[in-house]
Amino acid sequence: MAGRALPTAAVILAAGKGTRMHSARPKVLHRVAGQPLLAWVLRAAREAGCQRLFVVVGHGAAQVQAELDAEDVTWVEQHEQLGTGHALAQVEEHLEGPAQLLVLSGDVPLVSSSTLVGLVEGASRCWGAMAVADLPDPGSLGRVVAGGDGRLERIVEALDATEEELAIRRVNAGLYALPAPAIFSHLAELETDNAKGELYLTDALTAAAAADREVALFDLPDASEAWGVNDRRDLVRIHREVLRRKTDQLMAAGVTILDPEVTTVEWDVKVGADTVIHPQVLLAGSTRIGSGCVLHQGVWMRDSSIGDNVAVEPYSVLDGAEVSDSCRVGPFARLRPGAVLLTGARVGNFVEVKNSRLGEGVKANHLTYLGDTSVGPGSNVGAGVVTCNYDGQAKHHTKIGRNAFIGSDTMLVAPVEVGDDAVTAAGSVVNKDVPPGALAIERTEQRNILGWAKRRIAWRKNKKKI
Ligand code: UD1
Ligand code: CA
Repeated sequence: MAGRALPTAAVILAAGKGTRMHSARPKVLHRVAGQPLLAWVLRAAREAGCQRLFVVVGHGAAQVQAELDAEDVTWVEQHEQLGTGHALAQVEEHLEGPAQLLVLSGDVPLVSSSTLVGLVEGASRCWGAMAVADLPDPGSLGRVVAGGDGRLERIVEALDATEEELAIRRVNAGLYALPAPAIFSHLAELETDNAKGELYLTDALTAAAAADREVALFDLPDASEAWGVNDRRDLVRIHREVLRRKTDQLMAAGVTILDPEVTTVEWDVKVGADTVIHPQVLLAGSTRIGSGCVLHQGVWMRDSSIGDNVAVEPYSVLDGAEVSDSCRVGPFARLRPGAVLLTGARVGNFVEVKNSRLGEGVKANHLTYLGDTSVGPGSNVGAGVVTCNYDGQAKHHTKIGRNAFIGSDTMLVAPVEVGDDAVTAAGSVVNKDVPPGALAIERTEQRNILGWAKRRIAWRKNKKKI
């Protein structure tokens, strides 16, 4: 039966408990490559051009809605999780008029938008369509039994299958294009006479096939699109697959990744050509890396951007930081949210920067804390400098001018300002503003006691004799 072109809506089934995850979190919120499973499916549906998205939620519904509240979807509650067929039936009352429904599983995240387009095309030629794949190890997935004419005859769940049926490698990926309202009449007839005692969506397809409603079998071009997540091992397998695809993409675009198997680059991260990424680097969230950079071993970055020709030395952590061209960061540096480094700035080992702006060419190379601070271009911040920005109740700002020299171990008690070209003497506690060009020195005068070292040795010897 040739179908008409119907408006397409997507329904994502995401209400199940995911018992085998043994988790307090709903299964569809578990993440692969930084994104919840459900977000991957929503993204594919959007990319395929779906305007209307329904997500069926149940187990942990409030948590799922809260975590994905930025998504423009219609949430449909399935109060009791009685099976995939029952889950889809919950959408009926939300639909007006006929529609082509893309029915997707919230735990099958690698589905691509082109597969969804293929399913809709398949369903426009037949009554409906479903995605299938041949897997060497089909495990607990439903087996697809085709008739002699190659048409769908029935789907058998693994738990209900005979030995012979279990030997079938062709699986149901849990991705369908089905016409509404026709599918709902099959759903209304479902029974729970199966191993799980559930209302199976798959039985509705079997019933449609029996009623001569042809279901096109859409062979997935990449079998990994059929991988579902039922337990933690499934989750990690998919996570690794996404990471592999991402590192492959980056390498194809001119990024050197020395050991992709131990490199984590989340999907939305961007990296420029000729950047070299050493082992055990993690780049997460909306991170952006320019070209010609070197990210050394153990660098951890989230929602941060760095310009071109930046070196990030080993074991540095950048979270919400912004680093311009030609800077050098680390080793062992920590840039926290709001850290901004302008061109050529250098932040060295055991330096923490938070909500601070370091001007062009600023150096803070050792053991320093800069919080709520602005440092003018060309200034040098010595070892062990601390901006004392918190008085126990409020945070205060420190302002350092251009070409200033902050001596080692200076405590800058905020709010305080150090003028252009000013100097603070090492070891000073500075709590008054320093005028431009001045030296601020705050120390007790040094006293030298001559001959003291020898006298101490003599005194120790005498003490032992007693
Ligand atoms: C289902 C299919 C199986 C297919 C596999 C693909 C059925 C009966 N079986 O099996 O043929 O090979 O997917 O991955 O459909 N859900 C609800 N409400 C419920 C039950 C489930 O929303 O009452 C959701 C789950 O959250 C999940 C999806 O539906 O996202 C699939 O459910 P799951 O229980 O994981 O089905 P499988 O046993 O994997
Ligand atoms: Ca599943």
